[in-house]
Amino acid sequence: MYVLGVETSCDETSVSIVENGKKVLANKVLSQIDIHKVYGGVVPEIASREHIKGITYVFEQAMNSAGLTYQEIGLIAVTQGPGLIGSLLIGINAAKVISLNFDIPIIGVHHIAGHIYANQLEHEMEFPLLCLVVSGGHTELILMREHFDFNILGQTQDDAVGEAYDKIARVLKLPYPGGPVVDKMAGLGKDVYSFPRPMIDSQDYNFSFSGLKSHVINFHHNLKQRDQEIDIKDFCASFQEAVTDVLVKKTVLAKREHQVKQVIVAGGVAANSGLRNKMKENIKDIPVFFPKMDFCTDNAAMIAAAGYYQYQKNQFNDGLTINGQSRLSLEV
Ligand code: KG4
Ligand code: ZN
Repeated sequence: MYVLGVETSCDETSVSIVENGKKVLANKVLSQIDIHKVYGGVVPEIASREHIKGITYVFEQAMNSAGLTYQEIGLIAVTQGPGLIGSLLIGINAAKVISLNFDIPIIGVHHIAGHIYANQLEHEMEFPLLCLVVSGGHTELILMREHFDFNILGQTQDDAVGEAYDKIARVLKLPYPGGPVVDKMAGLGKDVYSFPRPMIDSQDYNFSFSGLKSHVINFHHNLKQRDQEIDIKDFCASFQEAVTDVLVKKTVLAKREHQVKQVIVAGGVAANSGLRNKMKENIKDIPVFFPKMDFCTDNAAMIAAAGYYQYQKNQFNDGLTINGQSRLSLEV
């Protein structure tokens, strides 16, 4: 079955075609990063307008690249939420038009389910599995006992990891989005500042990053006030070490308790080199998978993959009644 995926929840307009939840025939992503960069973050109103401008073009590009006609598409999977409501609606309405016109079933997919299923594009999921979701808006440890069965073991009590990366980058006057730049700098520095590791010893699976973020920002401020030299590389390395220590320790703890067969990591921060290395160093008894770099950040291939498995499990709402939801729970 060819699944057409549509993703417009934030600042990427993306359309993809994936065969049987596995084989990516086309993945087109029109990024708005350069437009939002000037403002230091995503401006929702501008994001919606850019989605409107780009969506038809991206649909055409994806279909041409896959060499398919709409008559050959068996299912449309579109991100329903969570995300920016104005942005979500552009993708949803475009998907509904194609669905109505060509009489193709349509399902709404949770954005985080998409991030998780980016892994399935490369490695067969084996259950039970543990998934660490780390993105701009989410930080969660999720236990899956079968396809489309999500049990949130713990989550951030305040900021998401990606959000903390972006804020630290802003203070250091590094370009948006901050995660990839801080990651690159971190690779060149050393953990000399020993920042706190919040909640690292709590015997639960919750996280907190706002205290660390404030600590790091205040520390930077104090150094500057005292006219002390700041080594940005060491600063980034120290932040990254603190964050990844917490993420990896909690993942290892949950892995032990739940006797899972695999650990998978999902979301934009899954692209982080420090996290990739540390996770693999600390989990050697079972496989640890990360999505391919292109599929870590927002894309429609992951939505198409998730949509395929969601459809198999009959977990879908009545197509044309789908509405965008800025907040949406992953657990059914
Ligand atoms: O999953 P995503 O594309 O969007 C959301 O659903 O939130 O994640 C974007 C986030 C941004 O905060 C970005 O800074 C972060 O992922 N990110 C990274 C890296 N690449 C992207 N954070 C740390 N290291 C990276 N290499
Ligand atoms: Zn995302």
